[in-house]
Amino acid sequence: MCRTDISIQIAAPTEEDEGSILAINNQSLTAPFTAKWYKELSPDDDNYALVAKHNGRVVAFIIYKLRPEGGYVSYLAVKGSHRGLGIGSLLIAETAKALLVQGKEFMRLHVSSNDKGAQSFYAARGFEEAARLNNFYGNGTTAVLLKVKIQDLK
Ligand SMILES: CC(C)(COP(=O)(O)OP(=O)(O)OC[C@H]1O[C@@H](n2cnc3c(N)ncnc32)[C@H](O)[C@@H]1OP(=O)(O)O)[C@@H](O)C(=O)NCCC(=O)NCCS
Repeated sequence: MCRTDISIQIAAPTEEDEGSILAINNQSLTAPFTAKWYKELSPDDDNYALVAKHNGRVVAFIIYKLRPEGGYVSYLAVKGSHRGLGIGSLLIAETAKALLVQGKEFMRLHVSSNDKGAQSFYAARGFEEAARLNNFYGNGTTAVLLKVKIQDLK
């Protein structure tokens, strides 16, 4: 599995990280979440998050949910200035570890069928297409459901 060469700390987000997470979300995602949605996330609803920090600053985050059939990655985003350094792969790997501890065997997520970059990223990590959903984002765009057995992650 790809590992980053720069020093990155992975941790659960604190309240202080919220501004950076929202900024990266708005900068990176075609369908960003709202501040209200983020504030309401809670392990009580089986929602979890991890941040990646470089020199004490948040440079990436992942938000995932525990579901009966496995872990579902709701959002993954790396700050534009820090892409291509292995940080996204590291967050996927750390989430996979956490899911295994929770007894989950599979990881799933949706990507836009238009987002060939993200699709290449996940395909290189062993994710495979499991389904397609029309109008998943409510704007006519199709989503691809990707799935990987955690043991097979590259
Ligand atoms: C997709 C994303 C999470 C990848 O994170 P990252 O830290 O840049 O990825 P890594 O450095 O771990 O891995 C880079 C690998 O992914 C590939 N990759 C990543 N983004 C890519 C893109 N837009 N086009 C083509 N390849 C891409 C790189 O070629 C590289 O491949 P390699 O491992 O074979 O060398 C990050 O680019 C990002 O936040 N993009 C915007 C938001 C997004 O698309 N999120 C995912 C949709 S849910």
